[in-house]
Amino acid sequence: IPVQSFDLVLFGATGDLARRKILPSLFHRFQLGQFCDSSRIIGASRSEMDADSFRELVADAVREFGQKDEVNDKDITAFVAQLDYVAIDAKGDQGWEELGKHMRPDKVRAFYLSVAPSLFGDIATRLRSTGIATDDSRIVVEKPFGHDLASAQALNQALRANFEESQIYRIDHYLGKETVQNLMALRFANSLFEPLWNSSHIDHVQITVAESIGVEGRGEYYDRSGAMRDMVQNHLMQLLCLTAMEPPGKFTPDAVRNEKVKVIEALEPVENSDIARGQYRAQNNTGSYRDHAGDPNSQTESFIAMKVQVANWRWAGTPFYLRTGKRLRERVSEIAVFFRDPPHNIFQGSDPAKGNVLVIRLQPDEGITLHTTIKDPGPGGMRLTEAALDMTFADSLAEAERPQDAYERLIMDVIRGNQTLFMRGDEVEAAWAWADPIISGWDDPRHAPQPYDTGGSGPEDSLLLLHRDGRRWRRIGN
Ligand code: BG6
Repeated sequence: IPVQSFDLVLFGATGDLARRKILPSLFHRFQLGQFCDSSRIIGASRSEMDADSFRELVADAVREFGQKDEVNDKDITAFVAQLDYVAIDAKGDQGWEELGKHMRPDKVRAFYLSVAPSLFGDIATRLRSTGIATDDSRIVVEKPFGHDLASAQALNQALRANFEESQIYRIDHYLGKETVQNLMALRFANSLFEPLWNSSHIDHVQITVAESIGVEGRGEYYDRSGAMRDMVQNHLMQLLCLTAMEPPGKFTPDAVRNEKVKVIEALEPVENSDIARGQYRAQNNTGSYRDHAGDPNSQTESFIAMKVQVANWRWAGTPFYLRTGKRLRERVSEIAVFFRDPPHNIFQGSDPAKGNVLVIRLQPDEGITLHTTIKDPGPGGMRLTEAALDMTFADSLAEAERPQDAYERLIMDVIRGNQTLFMRGDEVEAAWAWADPIISGWDDPRHAPQPYDTGGSGPEDSLLLLHRDGRRWRRIGN
């Protein structure tokens, strides 16, 4: 079903994120018939070029980064016909009047700021003062949303000086992933899990976002962030919130986001003894983290693991272990919920059954697996073995229903005016208020990150973090 007709202005339209993600995502939604003919995408950036050159650039981006089996010239030609371009100076006067002329009445107006956060304030102010943005326009911003609490507050102020919270869409692309939303369906549309979803039945939770790539090419940005700011404060925090939150009364944006904020506010401060930080070593011909960061003394972590406690009635005594890092064995993102062991072993002579583990896989092979204990088939008496109840979305769903790229869903939600999968301002600030004290003090050489090998599962200290609690991480990849 097509969404309402829109004028979408994409600031930073020639940038990396626009070319890799945003434009190919828009193209795919277009192909699936979600745009009406009257919808327009207006690229805006500093580069001087005419609309035809921009259309060429977009066509190239779609060919390079779109789903190969779905990209074809006929669709590309039709798609780029709905594009336009305005060269604009975010901080000066150039281009704004022309942009104003492109905006049509009765269309949903959305302004996507795929630009450095330092420009959010300038662009938001211009959009308002020129009247290009109206009271029901939408403004979309990308991470990094701040570097700490103070900078996040400043960004929020700059946006809120011009837009209402109900108009602001802060993207965390993890929220657009199919399985992340399935986590809500799993928890709140099934009666099986929710009664068990607490510390009486769940021993602990492991949230892993492992990547096999390093920070090559992004070293300069990354070295100022590290895994904590780049991944934990946002993506892993969102996964933690959705796993730990109370059932919202209804599935509305604020009902869901209220519950997420409560989880963040219930997080205990994390001591350094509950944290393992690492940096990948050089190996074979690949450089080390410090080579890629361009700083031989960098203290920034390319890996972090931590033990987090949610101090509320539901979760007291059930730790959440988080880990994320670059240059690990495989690209794997998952949430693993470890249920407690059965209280008593009736099968004498067999090893006692272990607790069930529910694994929610974000990538690759999106799906859900419940690890169970069954009887070892065949003769030989009552011996126990493990078996998986596996639901891989790709197998269970028809091809046409393949999960959309996170960006596709999120951009269409902007047009639909649905903020459920976007971070609210207070949520981002609460996450920084939790992260700031953890990060402060990492300059101290005693907390220097530990080196770790490429292709493994991170530094030794990460393993110890669980060993010392009598637990083990799930293996990353096969
Ligand atoms: C981004 C981070 O937000 O998420 C990157 O800045 C990271 O460092 C990326 O690689 C991971 O996203 P995905 O969707 O590939 O898991």
